[in-house]
Amino acid sequence: MTTQKIAEGDYVLLYLDVRRTYMIKVEAGQTFHTHKGYMKFDDLIGKDYGAVFQSSLGIPFTVLKPTLTDYIMKSARNTQITYPKDNALIVMFSGIGPGSRVVESGTGTGALTTALAHYVRPNGKIYTYDIREQGQKTAEKNLKRSGLIDFVELKLQDVTLGIDERDVDAVVLDLAVPWLVVPHAYEALKPSGTIVSFSPTIDQVVKTVEALREHNFVCIETFECIMRGMQIERGKTRPQTLMTGHTGYITHARKVTKPPKEDTENQLHEKAIEETSEEEPLASEEI
Ligand SMILES: C[S@@+](CC[C@H](N)C(=O)[O-])C[C@H]1O[C@@H](n2cnc3c(N)ncnc32)[C@H](O)[C@@H]1O
Repeated sequence: MTTQKIAEGDYVLLYLDVRRTYMIKVEAGQTFHTHKGYMKFDDLIGKDYGAVFQSSLGIPFTVLKPTLTDYIMKSARNTQITYPKDNALIVMFSGIGPGSRVVESGTGTGALTTALAHYVRPNGKIYTYDIREQGQKTAEKNLKRSGLIDFVELKLQDVTLGIDERDVDAVVLDLAVPWLVVPHAYEALKPSGTIVSFSPTIDQVVKTVEALREHNFVCIETFECIMRGMQIERGKTRPQTLMTGHTGYITHARKVTKPPKEDTENQLHEKAIEETSEEEPLASEEI
């Protein structure tokens, strides 16, 4: 395994303890100040990630390479974001991977966009729609910082009016009115493609699921992901007292090319014809 060296221009995660971490850009000749003393970036450049450095006050900081979760949690925010626990499920349900083409809306702060872009690398694309220009500018900054901007096309458009792309692998939604996007998602998706929608309220979920049923989607399921942290200490190990009680519900479904209801009706009709033509005695005749 090769160790990675800290280079000028890298974003690094300075770790003091679980609650105090700092995402900073390494710039030669500069210093980073904290209430626990300052660090000289020149001391970090060329050293291994994972190494411990002393601040000017002798406090140890570990320098870590940021993960996808770090980039999301440290993103500059102008909207509510989807958190890693939900992003993980959204990515799994979407079925995306390297090379996937995905339509997303709204962009918001770009936290979910960051997760999606990470997984479609190196040759996939996220087409992300939002109606707020300022928000998309922040998202763009966050995506540049995480090195994922090349896999994203930011679109300043109202997604309820339509989706430009066709034959996409997945449509991922986190906006107030996902049910209005369902017909456009159907047009944009390739057959068997997935739609995943994140909504904070159950009223939104009901409307979305009804729209999915009306528009030839199957495998419709809704989940809530509840994550409970543990405090680990011999003799005192138990769930943490405080937790995030609710973020949102995740609904996912697959596009079918024929109305499933019509299919079922046709199949039943054909079966009935076959059964009658076999000339078996009817139940009433047996009696
Ligand atoms: C909760 S935020 C999305 C947060 C995002 N998932 C993240 O992790 O950063 C919802 C976004 O949907 C956008 N939005 C609302 N209605 C929209 C529409 N009709 N078309 C496109 N975007 C829309 C809002 O401007 C807002 O930025």
